Amino acid sequence: MMFDRESYDCLVSAAGRVNIIGEHVDYCGGKVFPVALSLRNIIYIRPNGTNVIRLSWTDISDKIELDISRLEKYRGVKYADYFAACAYVLREAGKPVLGCDVLSDCEVPFGSGLSSSAAIEVSFIAALLTIAGESVDPVEVALLAKKAENEYVGMNCGIMDQYASACGVAGHAMYLDCATLDCEQVPVRMGDYALVVANTNKPHSLVASKYNERRRETEEALAVLRKYLPITHLAEVTTEDFTRYGKSLASPLYERAKHVVEEVARVKEAADCMKRGDMPALGALLRASHASLRDLYEVTGRELDALADAANGFDGCVGSRMTGGGFGGSTVSIVLKDAVPEFTRYVTERYTREIGYPPTVYETEIADGITIRSLK
Ligand code: GLA
Repeated sequence: MMFDRESYDCLVSAAGRVNIIGEHVDYCGGKVFPVALSLRNIIYIRPNGTNVIRLSWTDISDKIELDISRLEKYRGVKYADYFAACAYVLREAGKPVLGCDVLSDCEVPFGSGLSSSAAIEVSFIAALLTIAGESVDPVEVALLAKKAENEYVGMNCGIMDQYASACGVAGHAMYLDCATLDCEQVPVRMGDYALVVANTNKPHSLVASKYNERRRETEEALAVLRKYLPITHLAEVTTEDFTRYGKSLASPLYERAKHVVEEVARVKEAADCMKRGDMPALGALLRASHASLRDLYEVTGRELDALADAANGFDGCVGSRMTGGGFGGSTVSIVLKDAVPEFTRYVTERYTREIGYPPTVYETEIADGITIRSLK
């Protein structure tokens, strides 16, 4: 299909992301360590002088119109709900929402665990602000995008994905404190190593309910531990505190909280490893993170385990783990640059033999978050 991209007023894009480490800790007030990817969602947009948002996509033939005066009625509407959610929260926040024609081009594979939904939300909110002549503050956009996902779509996610999608800086990882939103941009200098992303290609399953269940479990664990400790977030529990008070938690709350406490400690070590360029030590932390997500947090599954095991079984790979929410999606691995083609062959062959279909290995770069370009 041909698209007249030049007939739009501007192009706004936002990034997919891969999280190096710090999984399922953002909504517990922990620190995370994601990077924004060159795989992005691109929005072409122009005001149309009506009260309607006309949505079209490069990869699906549907065209959907959103009535701006009735934005609440698109919940659960396939393809359109994320867009309606964004316009809805913008209007709730008192921002102008103009009628417009929109072409959305998503390079981030759906269900890949690389945050296609955050990239869509962040790029669309930034695009609506741009055509209304409003300023685009990346942190504010990230918070609005999270609100859209939590309150409209019904996925009770933390802030990591939207923040990374909006605020990424090329060549840097975000060492982000999800409780305060303090963020240190850490240069990604990996020497002889590369960050390799691989998608399990597991058919998309509904993960929101399992995700929301894990989140509830961490809230229950926090409520119990607060009887003993003066804390606001689960991520504040130290490993020493946990040795002392963790016993007060019944299974599976014990295992869930243990993952959070130990993952928080790993993220801190990981940021230090990145700063001093110690890739073997960083790789070991990735392996430990995967084991914890598999055994304690129980969010991996057959496909992710097979892909991480294959990567971890390859000589030139110092460590691999699942990334994102889990239950499917992608892994992130640290691999000797020279060995990446051989790694790709080895992992593809081993995973395909075990699972029955191949993974996709991506060559992707660490890119900026929101970009805005006028087309006029
Ligand atoms: C999903 C959510 C994030 C985060 C990760 C797990 O990607 O959107 O907020 O919780 O899962 O780390």
